[in-house]
This record gives sequence, structure tokens and C-alpha cells, in this order.
Amino acid sequence: MAQPPRSLGRVRERTVHRCGECGATHPRWAGKCAQCGAWNSLREEEVRRPTGRSTAAPGWAGRADAAASTVALADVPLDGGAPRPTGLAELDRSLAGGLVPGSVTLVGGEPGVGKSTLLLQLAAAWAGRGGSALIVAAEESAEQVRRRAERLGAAVPGVSIVATTSLPAALEAAERAEPDLLVVDSIQAIADPAVGAGGGSVSQMRECAAALVHFAKSRRVATVLVGHVTKDGALAGPKVLEHLVDTVCSFDGERHHALRILTVAKHRFGPTGELGVFEMTEHGLDGVGDPSRLLLGDRRSGVAGSVVVPVLEGRRPILVELQALVARSPLPTPRRTVQGIPPGRLALALAVLEQRAGCSLATMDVFASVVGGVKVAEPAIDLALGLALVSAATGVPLGADLVACGEVGLAGELRQVVHTERRLMEAGRLGFVRACVPPSAPDPPPGMSVVRVATLADAVAALGLTRGRARGHGQAADRPAAAPRVAE
Ligand code: TYD
Ligand code: MG
Repeated sequence: MAQPPRSLGRVRERTVHRCGECGATHPRWAGKCAQCGAWNSLREEEVRRPTGRSTAAPGWAGRADAAASTVALADVPLDGGAPRPTGLAELDRSLAGGLVPGSVTLVGGEPGVGKSTLLLQLAAAWAGRGGSALIVAAEESAEQVRRRAERLGAAVPGVSIVATTSLPAALEAAERAEPDLLVVDSIQAIADPAVGAGGGSVSQMRECAAALVHFAKSRRVATVLVGHVTKDGALAGPKVLEHLVDTVCSFDGERHHALRILTVAKHRFGPTGELGVFEMTEHGLDGVGDPSRLLLGDRRSGVAGSVVVPVLEGRRPILVELQALVARSPLPTPRRTVQGIPPGRLALALAVLEQRAGCSLATMDVFASVVGGVKVAEPAIDLALGLALVSAATGVPLGADLVACGEVGLAGELRQVVHTERRLMEAGRLGFVRACVPPSAPDPPPGMSVVRVATLADAVAALGLTRGRARGHGQAADRPAAAPRVAE
């Protein structure tokens, strides 16, 4: 029997394997992406030839770009870039004023954090200020969105919705509705049938985002795209869109806590330091103008292991309570559990305490957390963490009127952190009158005294934590049965 003829007439489509995490392409499938190391993330897709494709809505597609002309930089007209306030104060704060017409903003966050809620409220607030908003609901039905909007008081005139997962349909609807705010929820759920790859793939996302960016720019529609982020925090899929859009926001919060924080990682229209703070309530997201007060609301003073530290979230100082608990461990390898702080910071604090301050917690279970579901990674918490650990170990509470802020070096020395002055001002505003700081820290605001200390060991001694039973605090019962060695 003759061999079956080869299909000479059919040219095989060339395919590549694209990583769903980082977008890197590989000629062959592999279990692990050689670029980012993600496992099982490669998906086969067709190579798209540069066909000068024109998808979707008529009118914008295939538009020939105007011939590029040269202009003196100083003569470039400044008629577009002004942000338009959205009506949500905390959002405007993080976006340095509001949304710029024609700009594209990507809002990333874990599923369930409240992105759809935020953007529904944004649409309503926008409409409340005379704007018109169109929501492209690609994940929920129009009815579902309406039900939620009723609860949030967001079913208001000026907000319309189109429930579709098709990009051309969405763009057509936007062409007709002519909104000045377009919300696409989410960029992973929307697809362009003209793109061969499956929905949610990196190429789909990129093509759809590019088309939406084009639409936003040509129609001067402020556009917001929702992007789901994987648990490990990377803007995973949507990461590949970051260069396409003007603004990249991240909406974060612990699922079991009400606090939500909107940070801006990239912003073409202003500084990125500001952040917005929200509280998730039963009637949606409330802006929190004074997060420090909210976070310290339930604090009990006089408890060993608790230290207040002014951290900087973006450019905004916020006071958070750091808590440590130290208990005798039944395990050969005692537990180290953190919440809201990187494990590395706890490991560093424990090592410095042992090696530089003579306080060993090697046989103890150690728990350290930031109260309220806030995540703090900056080194400014080092001093407070060290103090909280010693306080927890000795059972001696720190004064309720004290804040601590400083970085701890490997030699146990304390270093000043950025914007110490602003942090102390915030502490002063909330009634704290003493601050433990490194020697070079600036003078405190009026009404506040500082305890300047050169090392973590000095701080422990200066604050009376080595005295064991605290005079006048009555916290001796907090002392662990086997008190750790603490250098006097
Ligand atoms: P959602 O906006 O759907 O999250 P995402 O779009 O980021 O996936 O919000 C999800 C959670 O928010 C949901 O689990 C319930 C909670 N929630 C409230 O607590 N109060 C509210 O008013 C709303 C609308 C949601
Ligand atoms: Mg959603």
C-alpha cells in the first residue's frame, strides 16, 4: 500500500506557545515557561500575520493616521490632559484629580476584592456630575448588575449597560451610546472573534485592549478596564497590558477585612504616590478620609506586644498597629507566622534581636501581624516589630502614647526612613506624644517628644522593656512561663 499522500496543497498554520503569565512566546510546548518560571502556563496559539486587520466598529477602524508633523515642544497645544473629577473623592485622590478624557486606566485586583462594585459606583458618581457612562458587562448579566446597582444606589440616569463578551458588539454599543466614560468589566472576559486565540488568552487580551485604547483615544472617552489578578499578587495576565494603557491601578484588600486600598503603579497624567482608601460596607464602598483613625479604632492600650507605627502608603502616612505574640513552642521547629508583613522582615527582626540585642526567641512560636488587613512591606516597621517582639516576650507593654519608626540594619543599628517628619505629624494629629526614632530623625512636631536611639538594643533598654515586670502596668500575667533571655 502506498503511503497516504502528504497534503502538499495545505500550508500548515504556524503556531507558537504563549505563556499566560508573562506573555513570552516559545516555539515548542513545555511544562514550564523558561521566561518567568510559571508551570503549565503555555497555550498554543496561531501566529497572526500582520494583515493590517480592522476589527469591530466602523468609523474608527482602518482610520489612516494623520501625517506626522513636527512641532516645537513648547508649542504643543495643551488642550486635553486635564483630569475630570469622578465624584469619588478617594479615587480622585489616587488618580491625581480624576480621569483624563481619552485615557485608559487598568484596575487590577483579585477576584472578589470589589472591582465591579468600585466601577459601578464610579459610573454612578460620574453620571451624578453630568457625565454619561456605559458599562460593558462581560462577566455578569445586565439584570445582575442592575440588582447590585439598586443596592448601591447606582441605577441612576446617565448610566447604561451592555452585557456582551464580544468586543465588536461592545464597541458598536459604545459608538451608538457616545458615553464619556466606558467601563469594561473585565478585559479577560471580552473577546474578539477575529482573533484566533481563545477567550482570556494573552493575545485576545492584548488585541482587545489595543482596540479599546484606539477607541478611547480617537473618541476621547475615558476608559476603565478591569483586570483580574492571580493570588500571588502579580498582575499576571493583565501585566502584559501595562505598557498599552495610561494608568495602572491596583485594588487590594484582605477578603476578611473591610479595608480596600487603591494604589496607582503607573500614571501618565500625574504623580503615583497617592492612594485611595475605601471600606467595603453592605451598601458598597465608602471612601475613608481618615484611615489611621479607622485602623486604630479598636486598639486596646497597655497590651504587651502592641506598637503603633506610622507607615507610608504611597505618599500618605497611615498609623497601623503592629502586634506580636510569643509563646513557648511544643514544636522542634517553632512557628513563625506573619500577617500583613513579609516573613523576611520578621526573620530579620528575630535574627537582629538574637545576635545584636541578646534576646533569643529561638524556642518560641512567634506571631506578628498588622491589624486591620493592611499589608506593610516597608523597612520603617523594623523598629516597631523588634519592640513588639520584645514587649510580647517580656510581657511589658509600651506606652499607649508612643509610636516607633525606623529601619533596622544588620548590625542592629537604626536608620532613618523617608518622610519621618510627615509620619510623626500624622502620629501627632492622632494624639501620640512620644516617638522612638533613629538618632538622625528630624525634630518632632510641637507637642511630641522623641526618644532617639542608635540601636535596637538601645531602644529596648530606653523604653524599659528589659525590666521584666513593668512598674505601674500590671501586665505581669502576660509574661510567658519561660521568659526568653533578654539582655539587661
Ligand atoms: P465585586 O465588586 O463583585 O468584586 P470583583 O469585581 O473584584 O470580583 O465584589 C465582591 C464582594 O464585595 C462580594 O463578595 C460581596 C462584597 N460586597 C459587599 O460587601 N457589599 C456590597 O455592597 C457589594 C456590592 C459587594
Ligand atoms: Mg467583578
